[in-house]
Amino acid sequence: MTTRDDPDFSPLRLDGEVVHILDQTRLPAEEIWIECRDPEPVADAIRRLAVRGAPAIGVAAAYGLALGAHAWGEDEASLERADALLRATRPTAVNLRWALDQGRRSWLERLEAGEPVAPALFAWAADLHRRDVEINRRMGEHGARLFASGDRVLTHCNAGALATGGYGTALGVVRAAYAAGALSMVWVDETRPLLQGARLTAWELGQLAIPYRLVTDSSAGALMSRDLVDRIVVGADRIAANGDVANKIGTYTLAVLAQRHGVPFYVAAPRSTLDPDTATGADIPIEERAPGEITAVGGAALAPAGADAANFAFDVTPHDLVTAIITEVGVLEPPFDESIARAIALGGSGH
Ligand code: MRU
Repeated sequence: MTTRDDPDFSPLRLDGEVVHILDQTRLPAEEIWIECRDPEPVADAIRRLAVRGAPAIGVAAAYGLALGAHAWGEDEASLERADALLRATRPTAVNLRWALDQGRRSWLERLEAGEPVAPALFAWAADLHRRDVEINRRMGEHGARLFASGDRVLTHCNAGALATGGYGTALGVVRAAYAAGALSMVWVDETRPLLQGARLTAWELGQLAIPYRLVTDSSAGALMSRDLVDRIVVGADRIAANGDVANKIGTYTLAVLAQRHGVPFYVAAPRSTLDPDTATGADIPIEERAPGEITAVGGAALAPAGADAANFAFDVTPHDLVTAIITEVGVLEPPFDESIARAIALGGSGH
């Protein structure tokens, strides 16, 4: 199983009433799949980033809810237990809430109608998963049109097939642009502290045979000042109603540098990542993770014993630093409060 052998590669798989999740903490060394028969291992996988990336978290939560109905019972108490467990896993990616809100509605409707819940929820989650891949492919087509022949693009973190139901958001745009002959290579930020760029994006690009070079996060300014970056494309965990973007820590730094150097800064995200209920980036909850993720790697200490560290997992890029937001319904341009509202008003996005 590789992304190159299988263009529909997904980090999640439903097999009967068992959900398999690829453990991304073990990549690139090993490909280990976690077997989930109830919501607990799903919640655990989300919490420890075995499955990560906003859209993939949404798909995992949808399957988690279905497993709740199957393994814990179809009554309302099981719904509340599964929903609370999954909802508390990670705070920033709005796709989690988006998926759980839909799943709740579906569960309660079935209960009211006196119909079986679990089969309906498995079918709903599988459909949400399938639609996420379709959406990403459409996003790729829209985004690829922004690229010009020979472009060198820089990306941060991992917004590829691994971070979604399949195909990827920012990396989906990269794939489509490369297939269209409009891209020559990718600069891959290693993405401290958990190295999603070095471990995951490099893994995916290698499997897809797309040329890339890995760089330290602090290289971005030097690359741009030497005119080595034509475009930046990143994913998002949540986009506020005004277009402010929460994404992996370090994204804001890139956007500031991009403005300084006149490099277009694109965000690729499905409409499920737009959050009309959050007015601005200041209202987006930012996850703070354990200091140990910074002070040690693979059990080896990088800092003196007892060193404290601030481990903010995400930052917020103000909307005025964003050139365009690439979605499945087209490329949104400023003023983002208006283009985002229009994109949501098109309907069918589950909002
Ligand atoms: O902490 P992570 O690895 O879940 O962070 C992921 C990101 O920041 C991605 O860029 C974002 O979720 C978009 S994934 C298509």
